[in-house]
Amino acid sequence: MKIPQNKIYEISSSIDIVEVISAVTPLRKAGRSFVGRCPFHEEKTPSFSVSQEKGVYHCFGCGKSGNVFTFIMETENVTFFDSVKILAEKANIQLEFENDPYDSDRNKIDAIYEINNQAARYFHNNLTGRDGAYAMEYLTQRGLDEQTIRQFGLGYSLRDKDSLYRQFVNEFSKEDLIDSGLVLNIGADDFRDRFRGRLMFPIFNEAGKVIAFGGRRMYDETKDEAKYINSPETKIYNKSRTLYGLNFAKQKIKETGYVILVEGYMDLISLFRYGVENVVASSGTSLTNQHVKILSRYTKEAVVVFDSDLAGQNASRRAIELIIENDLSVSIIPLPQGDDPDTFIKKHGLDGFKNLLNKRQSIIEYIGNGYRDKGMLDSPERKTDFVREIIGLIAKMRDEIKRDFYIKDIAEKFAIYESIIRKELEKNSRLRSKGLTRELTPSGSELQLRIRSSVKLSIVELMLIRLLIDSDAKTKNFLMDSLEINLITDASAAKIVNYIMMNIDDPEKTSHVHLFNEFQDDRSKEIIGKALLDENYVIAGSKDKNHLNEAKQVLNQLKLMNIRSKISDIDSKIKSANEYTPETLELLNLQQNLKKEQVELEKGMKSI
Ligand code: GTP
Ligand code: MN
Repeated sequence: MKIPQNKIYEISSSIDIVEVISAVTPLRKAGRSFVGRCPFHEEKTPSFSVSQEKGVYHCFGCGKSGNVFTFIMETENVTFFDSVKILAEKANIQLEFENDPYDSDRNKIDAIYEINNQAARYFHNNLTGRDGAYAMEYLTQRGLDEQTIRQFGLGYSLRDKDSLYRQFVNEFSKEDLIDSGLVLNIGADDFRDRFRGRLMFPIFNEAGKVIAFGGRRMYDETKDEAKYINSPETKIYNKSRTLYGLNFAKQKIKETGYVILVEGYMDLISLFRYGVENVVASSGTSLTNQHVKILSRYTKEAVVVFDSDLAGQNASRRAIELIIENDLSVSIIPLPQGDDPDTFIKKHGLDGFKNLLNKRQSIIEYIGNGYRDKGMLDSPERKTDFVREIIGLIAKMRDEIKRDFYIKDIAEKFAIYESIIRKELEKNSRLRSKGLTRELTPSGSELQLRIRSSVKLSIVELMLIRLLIDSDAKTKNFLMDSLEINLITDASAAKIVNYIMMNIDDPEKTSHVHLFNEFQDDRSKEIIGKALLDENYVIAGSKDKNHLNEAKQVLNQLKLMNIRSKISDIDSKIKSANEYTPETLELLNLQQNLKKEQVELEKGMKSI
């Protein structure tokens, strides 16, 4: 299903971007725009700028840019499609949809949502009905009351081969049932339910819709089966982006200022039952970078409470790294041997858990204690291992002040010279900069891209983009006639320019709002945002006056840059050749001509 372009235009022109953003971060008028603190990074002085007339925002601190749709997408973690729906509703605009190839996809998605939704109700009815007596007894044994069971929509899948299939095939197509992950096709026209005889945990998305299930084994006879089975990934369920319980916990996470991370469904539900509601669990997979990114929209602090067993320790170690890499603070609650959060809070109650929470350990304490418990801080070699390990973690922190704080803390707590720690850290970061550690993980490369992107944007290219969008017809014509796309060196900028030139006669497609929808990657959005909103890229004195003149200068600059880089290319070629050959002479000749051209262009610049 595709939303017609004119609808998007209609929505964005009836929505006030300032009003939408003000709901998230307070804005005040400053000159022609509005400014406030950036909702995408932490800052004390406002560097987030919103242009009401253009309908776009740009942060001069972190480089985030976008329009009202991307703002909703990022702050509410929804797709573009959903952001349009949310805003259409807000603007009271009816969405009717075009028929096009996307249609079948949308129908499929709707069907899978509906199957999951009805399956949740179906499993829940099984649980509360006659066939669910044993499962209900099991839950009661584990201390769950009716209200909790209802809140989490817990259910039970019957032990029959295909009871869900037989009921659902009346209403849904076989293909959709298979694609929902709830039904398996095991032979020619032979189907069976994925979940049989299991306690069912519906998995919700952030908006509270059921998108998948986890099913826990209950019967002794099935002990050789996996303890948990989860829905496979589907068109609506992405494991590495789904956090179990986030829909219930998000408000409390914001209120308390931190999130508690646990491993299991039961852990989360138990904590909720005792009144601890700022909890999430990763579901069906271990914690991923994307999980942490999602959490970082709600809080900057995470508390990890994993099982005390070895698997739990390893998982928490990995979680800690991911959290640190994303610049959140992290602390750890080690549980007594043999406990998980569920059993612990049942034994010790809310107060017991709160006590534990108050004793949460920093990464230094946590890792240090691990070494100390094994008597490994007594020998110098072991102590070195410890320092290496902890520095490996600290090196992942992006915040220098934070790193410094940790260095001092380690030096003091473990009687190690600060200089030694710093040297080790330096060694570590040197390795990293050569790409010798895990820098190639998504988080690493993303980070590199971010750093590079804020630095290397060419001002001339930004000015060009602004002129192509915001100048008068005469100027645009001039650029269309004289600009060659290969003058633009930045790949993202070239794509944007190319797109604008292809659509130069279509005011909707070249509108600010549409451009942000067309180019959704961060770097492109940053380029567009800077080009359109950053007054620095308006040539002094010529603002709003002589676009044509400005365009001529920009074009000349681009040509000059191009010639300069050609000249220096030739320079290095000549230098690397040991002797003068006919080829080098030819190169010298070429270079001579380029230099003449350069002089001409420089003269031209002065006369404009
Ligand atoms: P209880 O044993 O009922 O208390 O459940 P739990 O949630 O505490 O389970 P456990 O600590 O053993 O595992 C933690 C989480 O890991 C579970 O909630 C599941 O998400 C996942 N998990 C555990 N066992 C399996 C398994 O066999 N297969 C899969 N795919 N996931 C599992
Ligand atoms: Mn458990």
